[in-house]
Amino acid sequence: MISTKLKNAIRDIPDFPKPGIIFKDITPILKDAGLCSEVIEAFVLEMKGDKIDVIAGIESRGFLFGLMLANRLQIPFVPIRKQGKLPAKTIQEPCELEYGSAILELHQDALIAGQRVMIHDDLLATGGTVSAATRLVQKIGGVVAGYSFVISLDFLNGKEKLRGDSENIITLASY
Ligand code: PRP
Ligand code: MG
Repeated sequence: MISTKLKNAIRDIPDFPKPGIIFKDITPILKDAGLCSEVIEAFVLEMKGDKIDVIAGIESRGFLFGLMLANRLQIPFVPIRKQGKLPAKTIQEPCELEYGSAILELHQDALIAGQRVMIHDDLLATGGTVSAATRLVQKIGGVVAGYSFVISLDFLNGKEKLRGDSENIITLASY
């Protein structure tokens, strides 16, 4: 089972980045090329039958598997970045994070109106980050085809925030 393999690889780091937070460290997954391939194939299987035109990955850890997934599906990848990083004209959305807050940006010309976008990130916690990503995609005419995460922290109820925009929420390892 992919979820068992992932849970065996993911490390818990207590008190990072702040006291009281147990950080889920995915870097051991990245060192295992075979497991990375299994992650991508598990996403592909879950997305079978879905019409997806674009993968939008969220800086920074959403870039890791997001680009691999887009390339495996042979569709475009678009980056959603933290403020001040994207070079061309952008739109902005604020987001509340599990620890802190941020502004996310997307290039104005990242999507063609009507394109179906799978929003990808490594981890779903409170859902603040992907909610902001949803608003960015929708602002420039994209349609949210679903959400994909390597990890979801279900006790934080992030999925409830997303269901109004898409019921298609894929997670490979839930806690
Ligand atoms: C983490 C994680 C998700 C987000 C989840 O990113 O990678 O993007 O928080 O939290 P939420 O569901 O409560 O919004 P972080 O902001 O730590 O940045 P990073 O990916 O650049 O490490
Ligand atoms: Mg992140």
